[in-house]
Amino acid sequence: MPKPKYHIIICTNTRPPGHPKPSCGAAGSPGLLMTFNMGLMERGYQPGEVLVTGSACLGPCEQGPTVVVYPDATWYSQVKEADVPAILDEHIGKGKPVEKLKPNSVWGG
Ligand code: FES
Repeated sequence: MPKPKYHIIICTNTRPPGHPKPSCGAAGSPGLLMTFNMGLMERGYQPGEVLVTGSACLGPCEQGPTVVVYPDATWYSQVKEADVPAILDEHIGKGKPVEKLKPNSVWGG
């Protein structure tokens, strides 16, 4: 398999009902996985060219759903399915992170 150009990591962590912390899973992140994968296919990316992976908690739960794009380690917060085309077209396609989706800092400062 060729080395991937980008790796998109999506927090899909969920927590039990009543847990005091929010979770990306409860905020809709599982749907993001499919939306990213479908968007890559629609744009003609070959399998493995851009990886999309669900993950456990990445840390900034209150700002979820959290998405991180490597190799440039760009963190996105409160990502919605409607934001996926911008990430795919601007960041993955043109190498320009989507500024409006970046948190003030990774940890919300
Ligand atoms: S639950 Fe997604 S960052 Fe913690």
